[in-house]
Amino acid sequence: MTKTNERLTYDNKVVLAPMVRVGTLPMRLLALDYGADIVYSEELIDWKFMRSVRRVNDVLGTVDFIDKSDGTVVFRTCDKEKDRVVMQLGTCDPQRALEVAKMVENDVAGIDINMGCPKEFSLKGGMGAALLKQPEKAKAILTTLIQNVKIPITCKIRVLPDTDATVNLVIELVSTGISAIAVHGRTKNERPQHQNRNETIKKIAESVSIPVIANGGSREIEKYSDIDKFRKECGCTSVMLARVAQGNCSIFSSRGLKPLDDVIIDYLKYAVDYDNAPSNTKYCVQNMLKELQETPRGKKFLECQTLEQICAIWNMGNYCRQKQLEYQSKGNFGRREVTP
Ligand code: FNR
Repeated sequence: MTKTNERLTYDNKVVLAPMVRVGTLPMRLLALDYGADIVYSEELIDWKFMRSVRRVNDVLGTVDFIDKSDGTVVFRTCDKEKDRVVMQLGTCDPQRALEVAKMVENDVAGIDINMGCPKEFSLKGGMGAALLKQPEKAKAILTTLIQNVKIPITCKIRVLPDTDATVNLVIELVSTGISAIAVHGRTKNERPQHQNRNETIKKIAESVSIPVIANGGSREIEKYSDIDKFRKECGCTSVMLARVAQGNCSIFSSRGLKPLDDVIIDYLKYAVDYDNAPSNTKYCVQNMLKELQETPRGKKFLECQTLEQICAIWNMGNYCRQKQLEYQSKGNFGRREVTP
């Protein structure tokens, strides 16, 4: 892979948020094509990542981290995103975080620590939003990475119920030397239907000098110009989008939303080109189709099991078959399912 020397910066950016299962390589490349400036990977758990081994995949033109025990692709990346992809890590331990960071620091542009995940799996393991209650541990993770890794380190948090407490926490985290902080304006116990606390994000942005990336606005964002509205309301220069991009990734395009079928076709092309696992591809398309899964075509789609079957619904069956034959003729390119 070619090396870039320019360090990633986080101001004036529109960012694809980290999303488990959604933020795999095809979706990240699609977001970049449509206009995203930075793309986050799905959260990758440190101890699972440590079981993987780095492999250059000459057939696909990718760098793969392959699980040593079952051969699944844990993380796949490529040159096209190298200077704009941020790997998000789920961790509660500075040394494990560092070990993973060292494994990927030449392949990604930045590393982000997830400090917002409210799921039981994360909380029980002391990861995600559990770190909001353990600022010393959170700071130790960030400091260890900043001192030993050459790419920028960031974190993504949720707000606390109290605004002043949130601002104080952020000031603490910023003192470690992080390059930016993404803030989801909901507390650990709030769900997507709750109002995002844009005012709190604004207070945070006014209190620190590093870029604050505003997140949590998907409910308020239906078209490209809404991104700017959300950005201004939060007093930030950068915005991070999750659910609205999951539904129609062309939200990043200043030329306006593309019809969903066109987005799916663009997505499937990347899924084929980068041999994305059929189950993951299906999951991502399902999240785009939403209620359209109830239509006759949607029902046919739900029966699909292979990438070729999925592609055929959007008249790309031949494209998929040709590409797979091409890859097979170049040797074993190793398609394996990614475990969720
Ligand atoms: C998420 N979110 C999330 N956050 C995170 O830090 N790491 C992750 O891996 C995930 N995974 C994930 C998966 C899916 C399917 C969704 C919908 C969300 C949370 C996400 O990044 C974001 O903070 C919230 O969705 C709020 O932003 P939006 O959706 O209002 O733009």
